[in-house]
Formats: sequence, structure tokens, C-alpha cells
Amino acid sequence: MTASTPTTVERLESADLHRHRDELLAVYTEVYEEQLETPFFSVPRYWDRLVAYASRDGFSAVAGRIEDQLIGYALGYALPQGSRWWSGLRDDVEPALLTEDGRRTFALNEIMVREAFRRRGYAKLLHDALLAGRPEERATLLVLPDNIPARSAYRLWGWYKLGRLQPFNDAPVYDAMVLDLK
Ligand SMILES: CC(C)(COP(=O)(O)OP(=O)(O)OC[C@H]1O[C@@H](n2cnc3c(N)ncnc32)[C@H](O)[C@@H]1OP(=O)(O)O)[C@@H](O)C(=O)NCCC(=O)NCCS
Repeated sequence: MTASTPTTVERLESADLHRHRDELLAVYTEVYEEQLETPFFSVPRYWDRLVAYASRDGFSAVAGRIEDQLIGYALGYALPQGSRWWSGLRDDVEPALLTEDGRRTFALNEIMVREAFRRRGYAKLLHDALLAGRPEERATLLVLPDNIPARSAYRLWGWYKLGRLQPFNDAPVYDAMVLDLK
């Protein structure tokens, strides 16, 4: 299925983040309502992460709107040289796959669509808009093993699992996925 209602996909620069704070957090709060009590998923922690992502080189964000209403967004940044992204990996992976030179990997940190707008291709629209023209050779993201909608989407879009990864001590253990961009 493709997006059936006219949608605009707007690119947000890191400088725009604070201006869009309220609507970005409103969508996050709605989408992650059931996890907000967990410290890692709390709104202040989430906002701190967004601000940190936006300060990174290669930051990019796209926002999907229908009649000015934010229906979802996606964002990420380029892993810097010597990035610690892979340091929480829990599985043995060929070391050559884990070296970052600042140009190799785009980390897709967030992708979310409000529930009322799901299964209409909007996540795919945001995903493709975010990754279109990226100069990196691959992208990576973290997904919870029980997140069936997201895992199904990623598999359909060509992502594959590299191993299990815990990004922070109080974060869950995720599956680290990779997508070849070249
Ligand atoms: C994951 C998410 C972004 C998908 O958004 P979406 O707009 O519904 O996705 P799309 O419509 O582009 O769907 C793409 C494909 O994903 C798969 N998919 C999506 N939702 C699914 C579900 N509930 N069950 C099974 N497969 C699903 C399907 O293969 C779908 O293609 P199809 O509709 O042609 O069958 C959305 O469910 C979401 O915001 N979830 C909460 C936040 C989240 O978990 N983000 C990912 C963090 S890693």
C-alpha cells in the first residue's frame, strides 16, 4: 500500500529542532505512551538524546505532515570516526564491520508514525526520504526484538541483523540492523 493522502515531507535542520520541540515530543509521547515511565524512555531523556543527535555531524531529520499536522518523523546522524556505537555489541561480529571512519555509516536513530496513520506507507516514505542521497555506504539502527511492526518493515526494506546491542547500561538489548546504501 502507498500513502494515499497528500503528504508533505519536510527536511528539518538541527537548528530547527528547538522550534519544533513541542510537536516532536507530542508525537513521541503518543507513540511511546506505554514506555514513558521507564527512565530511559522518559520525555526528558528522549529530548536530551534528540539534542545530542542534532549536534552531530551529518545530522538529518524529516517530518511528515498532512495538512500541517505532524504524523511522524525520522532522524539520524553519521557515526563519527572511532564511534562507540558498536561498543555495546553482545555478539561476535567480524571486527572489520565495526570500524567507523566518519563516512561509513548513517545511524537511523528514530522513525515513528502516529498510530492513526500507520500501514499506509508513511514510514516507508520517511525512511526513503531520510536515506535518499546519503553519502555513507551503509545505515544502522537498533530495534527491539519484539517490535514486530518495525522488524517486519525493516526486513521488507532490506535491513539485516548484525547482532544484539545494548547502547547504554539502562537501555534494553536491541538488535542492531544494517542496510547497504550503495
Ligand atoms: C514501525 C512504524 C514506524 C511503521 O510505520 P508505518 O507507517 O505503519 O509503516 P508502513 O506503512 O510504511 O509499513 C511498511 C511495512 O511494515 C510492515 N508492518 C508495519 N506495521 C506492521 C504490523 N503492525 N504488523 C506486521 N507488519 C507491519 C509491513 O510489511 C508494511 O508493509 P505493508 O503495509 O505493505 O504490508 C510504526 O509502527 C511505529 O511508529 N511504531 C512505533 C515506533 C517504533 O517502533 N519505531 C521503530 C523503532 S526501531
